[in-house]
Amino acid sequence: MSDHSILSGKRVLLIIAGGIAAYKCLDLIRRLRERGCAVRAILTRAGAQFVTPLSVQALTGDTVYQDLWSLTDESEMGHIQLSRAADLLVVAPATANILARMAAGMADDLATTALLATDKPILVAPAMNVRMWLNPATQANMALLASRGVTSVGPNDGEMACNEYGPGRMAEPMEIIDAIADHFTAREAPKPLAGTRALVTSGPTHEPIDPVRYIANRSSGKQGHAIAAALARLGADVTLVSGPTRLPDPPGCTVTHIESARDMLAACEAALPVDVAVFAAAVADWRVKDAAERKLKKDGGGPPTLELCENPDILATVSKSARRPTLVVGFAAETGNVVAYAEAKRARKGCDWIVANDVSLGTQTFGGDANTVHLIRSDGAVEDWPTLDKDAVADRLAHTIADHLKGTAS
Ligand code: CTP
Repeated sequence: MSDHSILSGKRVLLIIAGGIAAYKCLDLIRRLRERGCAVRAILTRAGAQFVTPLSVQALTGDTVYQDLWSLTDESEMGHIQLSRAADLLVVAPATANILARMAAGMADDLATTALLATDKPILVAPAMNVRMWLNPATQANMALLASRGVTSVGPNDGEMACNEYGPGRMAEPMEIIDAIADHFTAREAPKPLAGTRALVTSGPTHEPIDPVRYIANRSSGKQGHAIAAALARLGADVTLVSGPTRLPDPPGCTVTHIESARDMLAACEAALPVDVAVFAAAVADWRVKDAAERKLKKDGGGPPTLELCENPDILATVSKSARRPTLVVGFAAETGNVVAYAEAKRARKGCDWIVANDVSLGTQTFGGDANTVHLIRSDGAVEDWPTLDKDAVADRLAHTIADHLKGTAS
């Protein structure tokens, strides 16, 4: 469980939208206030179908704000001030409808106006029917909101009010409180990489065969994206150069989307100089020498022969460049002799550290959520890290980088 003491003295603006889970907000308000957190609430018209303004008012001990056009509400506190006089905005339950309106930047009621006008962070707790949640429209809205820095908690799997089973249940009040506490803990954590510039590569590259076909690999980009996010959380100014992935852009990073290895190299060179560079991308080693400008057709003469040529090695190029970052970290994807091959790769490519991971088929590292890595430093020292989820690997690597850069700066 997270440390809740950080909630004392914090101000939350809770936006209660219209879902059956709205009743849980009453408990959420009570528990937040027990922890010393001031809660002010906006209740949407639909939300008021599920909980009464009187209950919300009794629990927050404050006026409940409902109407964008109410003279009384506006004279007491305008929507701009309402959204600024808070440390965090929490939307719970966040229905498919309010998420869509947020993603579209609408301001058609007090809740969405406050959300659009705010300069404060936003946390959403989605709650809706499982099909509404899984609908590509909702998923696209969530990805867009995440790329703008909106964080989320839940939804959980479970039996729903509509008798269906699956993801869509709002997170429980204590889970939402944990997420709020974690938000403030992360925000107030020291930023040892403030003032530092970082470059991260992530994902696969796509090497064209013709306009419709390409050579690719199984990289999901999860590890590289997590590293970019972890460095940004520690205060670094991060440029992420990403191959094609299905992931949202990590919050707080400048992202350049590329397809081929040659584009990735150009984007990395454009991002230099940086203090630290982490090359987590699974760059295709080879590309088709003369990719066809038109779609290759079956002409009865058998399959075409593809002549391959080698791609530039981005890690080696940057490691040996005149604008070499202070610290260059490579990755080594190996399927056997992991540490020995990785150490040889480190020396050959000229990077400082190399993070070696086993990507044999049974390990599920490619595409999976966990990773077992060994960190090999320039003096050959090897740290064997336990199996961790990719976010935890990223956090640990970011802190190790911060400690190292602090050591080299002093
Ligand atoms: N890398 C790179 N550019 C390339 C190939 C690899 O920047 N053209 C980087 C990767 O991002 C990673 C490191 O080099 O940080 C090692 O990648 P890996 O695929 O393990 O090594 P390869 O160079 O492909 O070597 P091998 O095929 O011999 O395993």
